[in-house]
Amino acid sequence: MSETTTPSRLAQTATNPQDAPADDAPWGLVFHDATVRYPNGVVGLDSITLQIEPGDMVAVVGLSGAGKSTFIRTVNGLVPLSEGSVEVGGQLISSMKPRALRRIRGSIGMIFQGFNLSARSSVMSNVLVGRVRHTAGWRTLIGWYPKSDRTIAFQALDQVGLLERAWTRASNLSGGQQQRVAIARALAQRPRLILADEPVASLDPPTAASIMGYLESINRKQGITMLINVHSVEIARRYANRIIGLRAGKLVFDGTAEEATDDVFAGIYGRAPGQDAPVGADQAGRP
Ligand SMILES: Nc1ncnc2c1ncn2[C@@H]1O[C@H](COP(=O)(O)OP(=O)(O)OP(=O)(O)O)[C@@H](O)[C@H]1O
Ligand SMILES: [Mg+2]
Repeated sequence: MSETTTPSRLAQTATNPQDAPADDAPWGLVFHDATVRYPNGVVGLDSITLQIEPGDMVAVVGLSGAGKSTFIRTVNGLVPLSEGSVEVGGQLISSMKPRALRRIRGSIGMIFQGFNLSARSSVMSNVLVGRVRHTAGWRTLIGWYPKSDRTIAFQALDQVGLLERAWTRASNLSGGQQQRVAIARALAQRPRLILADEPVASLDPPTAASIMGYLESINRKQGITMLINVHSVEIARRYANRIIGLRAGKLVFDGTAEEATDDVFAGIYGRAPGQDAPVGADQAGRP
């Protein structure tokens, strides 16, 4: 909500308030009664209604099976809604035709736990993939990108401190470096929104902190809206200006990091932070 957006972020996202929104202005999100019922009957998301402001940095927390990935995937239409609606940058995702959906996905950066890089390709080739939706299909098919795309890719690599590794094979980088390449690939899209599904779950704590630091700095400097699924309560509190808690597909918390006290987390997780999850079961009661 707007009260969770810091003044500095507001200043960044509304540089020319008298003008129409710039064509790279960050996108906000509006969920209205968003419900996902999977074909097997499992309710992945249960009537979620909330609004995310442009430039917000939101952490989504909850136990395994709580619906975090489902929530994030409804934003780019990877998971269709059974009921309700999701608006991205004022556009209704839920009723969008495939072509319009492809266009909107071009402006949504995705970051995954497993990095999703092409391991045998160079770092540069991986980052250029971020330009695919902005460049004519035949060009990308033959691996030929205009100079402007290459410049954007170099800038993105510079932002994550990997300029000198541009020609290294992606598989020769550490996990943390690979995730930085994935961030650069998302940045090369010139995104209005970045979705990250457990971006630091496979990394050791110092590397996780470094990756979160890059995301935080991109959010602060460029005002790009971010929706990040995280398991760690500490990470959610430290980096997000807003925390959304899910439990069995339902919204059980929506507030600032300061409001997300240990008691609140106990409510989201059914236990105190730091304690182990109940053995042998997840949020959906799976064995
Ligand atoms: N494709 C699918 N078909 C059927 N059920 C699914 C599908 N994807 C997810 N689910 C179910 O929907 C619920 C929410 O899953 P989701 O993956 O969104 O949770 P999550 O919070 O991301 O969990 P995790 O922390 O393990 O990644 C779970 O009960 C899950 O088993
Ligand atoms: Mg998940």
